Amino acid sequence: MDATPIVVASNRGPVVLARTNGSIEQRRGVGGLVTAVGGALLGRDATWIAAAITDVDREEAAAGRGAFDVDLHLGAGARGIVHVHLADLDPAAYDLYYNEFSNRTLWFLHHDLWDSPRTPAFGAGGAEAWDAYRAVNERFAATIAEAAPRGSPVLPQDYHLSLVPALLRERRPDLQQAFFWHIPFSSPDNYRVLPDAWGAALLEGMLGADIVGFHTQRWARNFTDCCRELLGARVRGKTISHEHGTTRVGVYPIGVNIDNLSEEAARAEVARARASIDDVVGDRTLILRVDRTELSKNILRGFIAYEMLLEQRPDLHERIIHLAFLTPSRHGVPEYEEYVQACKIRAAAINERFGTPSWQPLVVEIEDDFPRTLAAYQRYDVLVVNPVYDGMNLVAREGPCLNERDGVLVLSRNAGAAAELAPAALIVNPFDPAGTAAAIERSLAMDRGERQAMAARLRPLARGTSPARWLGTQLKDLSRLRDG
Ligand code: F6P
Repeated sequence: MDATPIVVASNRGPVVLARTNGSIEQRRGVGGLVTAVGGALLGRDATWIAAAITDVDREEAAAGRGAFDVDLHLGAGARGIVHVHLADLDPAAYDLYYNEFSNRTLWFLHHDLWDSPRTPAFGAGGAEAWDAYRAVNERFAATIAEAAPRGSPVLPQDYHLSLVPALLRERRPDLQQAFFWHIPFSSPDNYRVLPDAWGAALLEGMLGADIVGFHTQRWARNFTDCCRELLGARVRGKTISHEHGTTRVGVYPIGVNIDNLSEEAARAEVARARASIDDVVGDRTLILRVDRTELSKNILRGFIAYEMLLEQRPDLHERIIHLAFLTPSRHGVPEYEEYVQACKIRAAAINERFGTPSWQPLVVEIEDDFPRTLAAYQRYDVLVVNPVYDGMNLVAREGPCLNERDGVLVLSRNAGAAAELAPAALIVNPFDPAGTAAAIERSLAMDRGERQAMAARLRPLARGTSPARWLGTQLKDLSRLRDG
């Protein structure tokens, strides 16, 4: 156990609270950040500050019961207890900060999701969202300032909390901070879509940290270029000099907590899910995708690629099946609802066009079923991960770690994971469904030896750096900076 207490802060905490039959239960939070950071905290004395998200979170936080312990259950019998502290935020301000500013503005900016002839068009609503974003970041900074033991490392996470490092530095200059950015970072030209004042304030906010970390060199370079071009900051190697001192830019790609993942995959629910997947798939070749219902995951172009494959290769009909496991995400953002509808319509059209009484070519399941996801990882023959842009993408790592059939990974060149996995995957341009269809076709044509060799190369790359080491390296770099 590392005795130094650390403080993590992120919008979403490791669990959300729900009420079942009158009693409160903790439910695992969804998404890459929770998996990554949760997996990193084994054996540490950690406080995790997060927003109260669900109604029950809010009620409990308002009633003074927003601080409690969570067992992260980190595998191989290990226990990872973190002290969670939920910040009680005004629901209207939270909506503007989370849905409007974080998810409709920053997320769209950094994943290049705007439809530039029409969006964005920042008006009064935009300014209101920006004010709410600042207010919630202030609130997070105040909560951390109160909770953090003297001199303890603080790790604010992700685009929701860009302003926290500078705000916290003003309040608690004794705290060292490593801020981690989990998503892509846009190039300076794209970044300039933001009103200048916001763009500069966000960069200055992040530069309040001693270290700013990214999953890949590509996102780190874009951030550094933005600081240089927009703020006129001086950059020397990995160090950015600015008004308040210096900030080090680091690249820390996260991998998989293999013990935890293997233990989860060995559970009885996974075996049951596997049997039910086997019933659906039979002896067909399984092409799988696993994503949140998320625009940046590029589900629609993935379906179009599959349709092209079916069109070009009638000999594959009945012999292959595509499962799309989609976890519901971000209902509060209208673009997401429209996108999910478009995906469903496309899937129905594909089934209508190619399906037969004995074969449904594309099966879409929209639910949060982790055991079923793990079972599908074991069974796939081809895993399609084709995001338009993605900070890392843990599906591309977890799938190959659990797969039992020497499955082939078809991977977008714009996923952070491609920086490490490219030598053992079929790399595609996510904007090119024809190229994606060709890559899937190629994977289906590979002989057993070729698949085995590729999967053997892929497994260790996919595992990568464990979350514990990922976090440990950042903490080590922080203490090196402190000790000069
Ligand atoms: O880093 C991206 C992220 O914020 C991660 O937490 C996770 O992958 C996903 O987005 C979850 O999004 P949300 O918390 O909005 O459901």
